[in-house]
Amino acid sequence: MTYKTIIAENISQNIGQDIGLITFNRPQVLNALSNQLRTELTQALSDFENNHALGAIVITGGEKVFAAGADITEMKDLSYIDAYQDDAVGGLEAALGQCRKPVIAAVSGYALGGGCELAMMCDFIIASETAKFGQPEINLGILPGWGGTQRLTRLVGKSKAMDMCLTGRMMDAVEAERCGLVARVLAEEKFIDEVIGIAKSIAAKSRPALMMNKECVNQAMETSLHDGLLFERRQFQATFATEDQKEGMAAFVEKRKPRWKHR
Ligand code: COA
Repeated sequence: MTYKTIIAENISQNIGQDIGLITFNRPQVLNALSNQLRTELTQALSDFENNHALGAIVITGGEKVFAAGADITEMKDLSYIDAYQDDAVGGLEAALGQCRKPVIAAVSGYALGGGCELAMMCDFIIASETAKFGQPEINLGILPGWGGTQRLTRLVGKSKAMDMCLTGRMMDAVEAERCGLVARVLAEEKFIDEVIGIAKSIAAKSRPALMMNKECVNQAMETSLHDGLLFERRQFQATFATEDQKEGMAAFVEKRKPRWKHR
């Protein structure tokens, strides 16, 4: 499918292990996340999720900028009823929430406002040394409305989330890694190739085991420790019903690489 505001590519590896790469493509406005971009991104995610050739998805903005937020020119004249009825990000949030494949945000340059919030909707963030994160909505007289006050607080804690939301300041990649917003910081050189390499290494693992791991970690964000531990215990026990558990442990004992059946 051809899109106007994103590029969606299938990076071939092996069937079942291909990587879906989505690159925002509005460089003239620093990849501002317009209505059209969000619609196209939602469609691309849904297509990738249903494509059995793909094992993982990477979302990026390219080398210079991830995304400088929602498109302010589109938003500036919105009325309350427009904002309420359009629910601008609900569809995208649902598409990411329903994605059972691993989704990595590869952030180079600015990830501000909705850009930072979108990155946080992904399973984890890998940043290049040039990445800059922020929730500058306070400077526009608004607040982060795509999950920023909630996800940022869960990821970095109340104190730093308050600092970011109330001052609107940016944090660099080093600070973002230190406070738990990003999983890893990689050198600018060959950044996207390295992230794709990480996505490939994930896609090469047992697919049901990946799905169960992802569900368990997500559960930790939603529930009490007691309920989360019970959920994890049951998922762990369920792995013993898979052929991949038998294969993975047999391969370890026989000192060879596992041949996953994804069953
Ligand atoms: N929505 C719409 N257009 C945007 C945008 C956004 N979120 N962010 C940047 N742009 C546009 C600018 O208006 C400019 O367009 P122009 O060339 O037609 O004037 C172009 O992108 C380049 O941006 P510019 O501000 O000139 O680049 P810069 O390098 O000086 O500054 C930023 C970069 C990211 C610091 C600055 O663009 C900025 O603060 N953007 C808004 C961030 C924000 O508030 N996001 C939250 C939105 S809810």
